[in-house]
Amino acid sequence: MVSSEKHSLGRLGRWWRGLPRVPDFALDPSERDALQRAAKSDLAKLYFSRHGRVAHKWVHYLDIYDRYFSPFRDKNVKLLEIGVFQGGSLELWREYFGPRAAIFGIDKNPECAHRVDAPNQVRIGSQADPAFLKSVAAELGAPDIIIDDGSHIGRHQRASFFTLFPLLSEGGLYVIEDIHTSYWPRRYKGGLGRRGTAIHLIWQLMDDMHFWYHLRPKWPSLASQIGGLHIYDSIVIIEKKTALPPRHIMVQ
Ligand SMILES: C[S@@+](CC[C@H](N)C(=O)[O-])C[C@H]1O[C@@H](n2cnc3c(N)ncnc32)[C@H](O)[C@@H]1O
Repeated sequence: MVSSEKHSLGRLGRWWRGLPRVPDFALDPSERDALQRAAKSDLAKLYFSRHGRVAHKWVHYLDIYDRYFSPFRDKNVKLLEIGVFQGGSLELWREYFGPRAAIFGIDKNPECAHRVDAPNQVRIGSQADPAFLKSVAAELGAPDIIIDDGSHIGRHQRASFFTLFPLLSEGGLYVIEDIHTSYWPRRYKGGLGRRGTAIHLIWQLMDDMHFWYHLRPKWPSLASQIGGLHIYDSIVIIEKKTALPPRHIMVQ
């Protein structure tokens, strides 16, 4: 999760300052209690009631995650999260998916190697390094869920996607968090309408998912594997599902 980047908001700075502040790490305990009481999904309930290593998620992601991830609970699910930070999100996934899950985290910061408890695993390397990503996926086995919560830089998000999406299991989910950074310049090298960002990737994947209707897929081997693109504020879930030629049929 990326907190507000005031420096990158340029002329919108004054407008932005008028909005309620986005809380950073530790919530005020009473605010946390209120969020816990208001939580609807199992994941949100778990998130606000847990006490362990720090996890950092936007509140509205929790119900979205629960909606897509619940069919994978208590199964032999293989989950790979890019971006370990303090290790709390890997703990959260363990609590949510249960003991049968295989959970790996990736981070470029070597200190993250010490922020995990077995059976969860962390491997140290960059999400922009295809050889590293392939070696982790080979160790884990075909992931069923991949969450990119790493650098949030378009070039890195795209490198990870093109390496890992082909390795995702059929029926698997590829999540990119914090795609709003696609709009932010400087550190994230983004901008409205900017090519090479995660938002631009989603647009391109949307075109490829519809290649049947224009016959010019940008990535032919990927195009028929995009089962759906579920876009919410700042988060996208890309379903991997081998598509058959679409048919329409009249019935009476
Ligand atoms: C937003 S934090 C992850 C938060 C964590 N997933 C959570 O929900 O609590 C981003 C993490 O990505 C890591 N990171 C940044 N650039 C990276 C890169 N190129 N490759 C791998 N990890 C990276 C950072 O070291 C940091 O720990």
